[in-house]
Amino acid sequence: MLKSCFTTAIISLAILFVPVAQAAEPIVIKFAHVVAEDTPKGKGALLFKKLVEERLAGQVKVEVYPNSTLVGDADEMQALLDNKVQMLAPSLSKFDKYTKQLQVFDLPFLFDDAEAVARFQRREKSRELLRSMIPHGIYGLAYWNNGLKQLSATKALHTPEDANGLAFRIQSSAVIEAQFSAVQAKGVRLPFAEAFKALQSGQVQGAENPWSNIASQNMHTVQPFITESNHGVLNYMLITNGTFWNNLTFAMRSELEGIILEVTQAVNKEAEALNRRDRDRILASGTSKLVTLSPEERDAWRQKMVPVWKSFEEEIGADVIRAALTVNRRH
Ligand code: LMR
Repeated sequence: MLKSCFTTAIISLAILFVPVAQAAEPIVIKFAHVVAEDTPKGKGALLFKKLVEERLAGQVKVEVYPNSTLVGDADEMQALLDNKVQMLAPSLSKFDKYTKQLQVFDLPFLFDDAEAVARFQRREKSRELLRSMIPHGIYGLAYWNNGLKQLSATKALHTPEDANGLAFRIQSSAVIEAQFSAVQAKGVRLPFAEAFKALQSGQVQGAENPWSNIASQNMHTVQPFITESNHGVLNYMLITNGTFWNNLTFAMRSELEGIILEVTQAVNKEAEALNRRDRDRILASGTSKLVTLSPEERDAWRQKMVPVWKSFEEEIGADVIRAALTVNRRH
């Protein structure tokens, strides 16, 4: 009798506890970014949300905040460290406070083309860089591509001298600042959310962006000339808060890692096509004249920029720069 009462009590307790466990709130991943949704990163964030909510239904929920609506360039990294957001994908230019080595991606004219950058991102050195900010609590999950940057301005930029005296909106990057100083121009650090207004108001006369960012922010409507310079990279690192990540169960982390791999492949496969589409749209809109560089003109820009590599060699590491250079076909 006593035994059966005991069994009944255990069963009742179990019944009481099962619904509680099932009703546990899903983990929420807030994924914030600064660009529009119809861009490589914007689409990547949405695909991540879709796959997570299909495969981890009821366990993980993803909230995507595009266009700096939750946090922007000035406060997103602190928000990640405070676990107020759990995922970001800042451009590789925005990490120099945490590691100087990633500045290698900013060195102008270092990579021959987007495929060379993609090859470098697959190399051991780049994989190491994903883990280089762990001591700061930042855990790198993947590289997401956008594309190569183009110079836009209120005047046609053919030679480096054409840029003399102009102000360009730049990301917060010492390398990019030095890049514009090398052609006697001024880099003005501004959050991405303020770029369009700064161009429109004349605070700055130029900018450097991949086609997709020019189009999605309508920058071409206030930039009558776009030089197809392909002079630098604008790619991203998908990052999370290390403590948040490590506190997930092993099974959940493994599932998320599989999803991230799949999304990364999709983003990196589509990024070039999206940039080509946006280039076509901009040129078809007739707002901006395309300036193409002759091989001699391109070489003149490159020659001006090579000293910038040298001045950052110590911070970045000669070995990192060498590793990046070896991915170019001509090496
Ligand atoms: C910029 O600030 O220009 C870029 O980092 C924006 C972005 O995330 O593509």
